[in-house]
Amino acid sequence: MSETKKIFIDTDCGIDDAVAIMLALSSPEVDVTGISCVAGNTDIDSVIKNVCGLLSFFCRTDIPVYRGFPHSLIGTKLNADDVHGKGGLGGVELEAIGKRVEKKNALDGLLEAAKANPGLTLVTLGPLTNIAAALNLYPQLKGLIGEIVVMGGAIGPGNVTKYAEFNFAFDPEAVTSCLSCEMPMKILTWDATVELTFTEKEYDALDMGGSEPGDLFLDLQRFYMNYKERTYGKRVINFPDPLTMACVIDPDIITASENMGLRMVLDRNSEKRGASLDAAAENQKADGKAQVITECSRDRFTSLIKRIKDYPC
Ligand code: BDR
Ligand code: CA
Repeated sequence: MSETKKIFIDTDCGIDDAVAIMLALSSPEVDVTGISCVAGNTDIDSVIKNVCGLLSFFCRTDIPVYRGFPHSLIGTKLNADDVHGKGGLGGVELEAIGKRVEKKNALDGLLEAAKANPGLTLVTLGPLTNIAAALNLYPQLKGLIGEIVVMGGAIGPGNVTKYAEFNFAFDPEAVTSCLSCEMPMKILTWDATVELTFTEKEYDALDMGGSEPGDLFLDLQRFYMNYKERTYGKRVINFPDPLTMACVIDPDIITASENMGLRMVLDRNSEKRGASLDAAAENQKADGKAQVITECSRDRFTSLIKRIKDYPC
């Protein structure tokens, strides 16, 4: 039996972030040492409220939660209310009983966790703002963090523009900054998420209802499924952040990936701003390298996600 992996999560807690955190808490392979919050899917106060509420629901108020950036490095924001609803959880309200955000900020929280757990795996489910700032302020993190596993970017079409995925489009400067640190990095792309789209029939076959965490899972996803129908005319579900977490819990889930030099488009006047390009294919200098994941096993993901239903709340 391999050792439990110590992880630290950075999140902009929308619907799928919440499911990814639920998956981590339901998985004995990983031990969550802390969670930092960043603006993205919703405003920073709502992100904190959602994470604290979720930890309270899962009886894990022992996990420290830290406040991070309320906007990107250059002070901008994107609105994702249509995808995640106002407040970020598709109308679901979770009460944070006995759980409050730490006095220490996200950057200091990450440093503390990394010092206490050398080789720590950092899992990022939102814009990379906190991480870029932390790596800049505390370069020693580079020697303490074993690997960064990121949800972000798109090689094919993105989900916010034809070229860019939400997390990378929210703060492309932060992505460039993290890539340039040359740390071991895996990136779960939007492409991998699309490849693993669940139709409503496949989603229903997961049979998640009938327990408190299973019912919460269904309540959260309802808004997202309706958004997909409204916007694309199809009742389907994608799992970007849960799939990223699944790659941490069970790396064998990855069925296609490529070591790639990436270059971010930062030009504020370009329609491609926020795109993550394959630098070699574009004949350009890379900002840095990562293992870019484009495909995962549906069967392995399905069996992992079902664990949420059985979490003993
Ligand atoms: C990413 O953006 C957010 O909408 C999701 O939470 C996920 O992290 C997908 O592009
Ligand atoms: Ca997210």
